Amino acid sequence: APDISLANVKAHLSQLQSIATANGGTRAHGRPGYLASANYVKGQLDAAGFTTVLQSFTYNGATGYNVIADWPGGDPNDILMTGAHLDSVTAGPGINDNGSGSASILETALEVARQSLQPAKHLRFAWWGAEELGLRGSQFYVNNLPAAERARIKGYLNFDMVGSPNPGYFVYDGDNSDGTGSGPGPAGSAAIERTIQDYFTSIGVPTRGTDFDGRSDYGPFIAVGIPAGGTFTGAEGIKSSAQATLWGGTAGQAFDVCYHRACDTTANINDTALNRNADAIAYAVWTIATAVPPI
Ligand code: PHE
Ligand code: ZN
Ligand code: ZN
Ligand code: ZN
Repeated sequence: APDISLANVKAHLSQLQSIATANGGTRAHGRPGYLASANYVKGQLDAAGFTTVLQSFTYNGATGYNVIADWPGGDPNDILMTGAHLDSVTAGPGINDNGSGSASILETALEVARQSLQPAKHLRFAWWGAEELGLRGSQFYVNNLPAAERARIKGYLNFDMVGSPNPGYFVYDGDNSDGTGSGPGPAGSAAIERTIQDYFTSIGVPTRGTDFDGRSDYGPFIAVGIPAGGTFTGAEGIKSSAQATLWGGTAGQAFDVCYHRACDTTANINDTALNRNADAIAYAVWTIATAVPPI
């Protein structure tokens, strides 16, 4: 799998920051900074050779947009999707939440194109609108999938907040090995979890599980039985002393002190966490997409 360029990921974050700054400091659903963000992502993908759709929906009296990008080729009956929400809250520019996931999957998609990757699976990437208002874009997408098309989606990888300034290294707990939360994900989620863990093991970074608690866009996918996984570096939760021993950083402080605040700018990113997660995304996409079915 390729080493994703941190500089390129950060260049996308700078663009998203500029879009927010030019549009009242936010990229929230219904604000012009959201559509500008969607057009930025779509323009990059179109230029790289993806087949893209700007899928619109209405929520709260405003039009929202998902950007859906298909990489030509692969088995149309065996689709791997990778997604991130592109909207921010109204309070700020949303650079860690979720410019970080959006920019990381964008750069991964662009690297697929640079390498002319032709994996066994069909690759589809998605940038969701209105996650912050209740997973509205991803829910709209799943609700409007014809049953036959839904059945072709064999896995969904989600990345929401992957550059937190006081980071943890969390992987969605597909097998419920920690025994907490709402239980395991759909069959196949455990294998996704192991693949992501394998990457972090290879770079010597310990991980911990995080529950499928319904707080991000994997929710609508697991609700219809699609295996899912992904990473997360923490939001408003407080880093424990045990976690600070494991990962460094500051115990007793939130993983992201600027969560949902105006200070969630390009300054609110831990480059090491962003770099490791971007590389983990590429590892997961490359490994899973070239694997034999059913994962
Ligand atoms: N989805 C939450 C938000 O956007 C953040 C979050 C991501 C929380 C992943 C838990 C797990 O605000
Ligand atoms: Zn959020
Ligand atoms: Zn988020
Ligand atoms: Zn687990």
